[in-house]
Amino acid sequence: MRKAYIYKGFERFWHWTQASLIIFLALTGFEVHGTFHIFGFEMAARFHRVASWMLIVLVVFAIFWHIVTGEWRQYIPTTKKLKDQILYYSFGMFKGEKHPTKKTELSKMNPLQRLVYLAFKLILVPLTVISGILYMFHKTFDQNNMVVIEDVSLGSVAFWHTLGGFLLMIFLIVHVYMTTTGHTPTSNIKAMITGYEELEDEDEEKENNNTEDIKL
Ligand code: HEM
Repeated sequence: MRKAYIYKGFERFWHWTQASLIIFLALTGFEVHGTFHIFGFEMAARFHRVASWMLIVLVVFAIFWHIVTGEWRQYIPTTKKLKDQILYYSFGMFKGEKHPTKKTELSKMNPLQRLVYLAFKLILVPLTVISGILYMFHKTFDQNNMVVIEDVSLGSVAFWHTLGGFLLMIFLIVHVYMTTTGHTPTSNIKAMITGYEELEDEDEEKENNNTEDIKL
């Protein structure tokens, strides 16, 4: 095994800040929705708006970072070994089988992670953020008589936004469970905190490497 630097400083900052903001937005958002009572409706709505601007700024910086560092290539989807990965998570890991794909600095994600994270970035986050912005400016757009939102009722904006919130919570639960399926139950979480993770040696990797290396 060798110690490899997998997650860079900004990546870790962005990951944990995004996670905290999404959890806080879920707490305040579902209070606005009427699911529970923590801050009181007024405060919850105010906190939700402030946190949502913070998330928007963070997402803009993260998009910029992914583009300039070339890290966006980590998310290029592939079907190679996808079936093996699904079978591993469904059965193999419970029988103590080896991971079907190997992690390297140039290819940190297995085929299933690539697909799921790509959908998270291109569908789930945009759905929640765009519907949230439409929600926030619904009245303003109405008053200015802007076509953008005229035909979309507040009810349907709220529906899509709440759906986004629900799906994000499902993602969060499954995501946290999946982080425990690394070499040890905490190795993936530790890697996202320190940046470093124990990976198989180069030679061993060359023999076993199943994911295509990506040139960054
Ligand atoms: C940039 C991101 C977001 C924006 C701009 C945004 C904006 C809004 C706005 C304007 C409202 C109406 C309440 C109010 O007037 O303050 C709202 C409600 C809500 N938000 Fe968000 N939000 C965002 C992210 C999230 C996230 C990440 C979640 C959950 C994980 C979430 C869950 C909810 C829920 C459940 C409601 C209540 C919907 C209803 O019952 O009508 N929001 N959001």
